[in-house]
Amino acid sequence: MQRIRVHDKTFVPFLTADQIKERVAEMAMQISHDYRDKKPLLLAVLNGSFMFAADLFRLLTIDAEISFIKIASYQGMRSSGKVVTAIGMEHDLNGRAVILVEDIVDTGKTLHHFIPTLQQQHPASIAVATFLHKPEATLYPLSLQYVGFQIPNRFVVGYGLDYDGLGRNYYQVYQLAPDSLNES
Ligand code: IMP
Ligand code: MG
Repeated sequence: MQRIRVHDKTFVPFLTADQIKERVAEMAMQISHDYRDKKPLLLAVLNGSFMFAADLFRLLTIDAEISFIKIASYQGMRSSGKVVTAIGMEHDLNGRAVILVEDIVDTGKTLHHFIPTLQQQHPASIAVATFLHKPEATLYPLSLQYVGFQIPNRFVVGYGLDYDGLGRNYYQVYQLAPDSLNES
């Protein structure tokens, strides 16, 4: 693997395709075990998670459904602040075992605000399966049941993750090069 350029930045290899395949297979095995007889509904959060969600889903060995949503946040009319809703949610979540599928949990803000919205529909359970987690960056309390890789707090692209729209189309994950910080 070589260094790549995405827009104005240089990225260096970080996770290989083999590492990713192996870890995603382990996660699928774990989920298949934990959710046998529960017919989980995976809710994949677009855009970033589409590649991870597809690979994870096709390796499940149990009955499971998948649906793709977008999370939109806007400022509510009241002072309580942010309202976070899902676009494309066509399932009745009542009584379902829901697994949210994310590309990365960074600050945790998105999921921290979104999960209460899901809880209003009374699912039987809500778990999070995230491909990547940056523990040093996470500021909001969240419980993450399935984490592919814990990574340092440095920007990454590839395997669905983008830098300003580009870089999603790599099987590998690349990390911002240390000497790329002062480029522009
Ligand atoms: P949050 O801060 O946990 O709410 O992160 C929300 C979103 O920021 C993620 O779902 C990603 O779309 C994006 N994001 C955070 N860190 C990275 C990164 O290193 N590369 C690409 N996207 C990122
Ligand atoms: Mg995302």
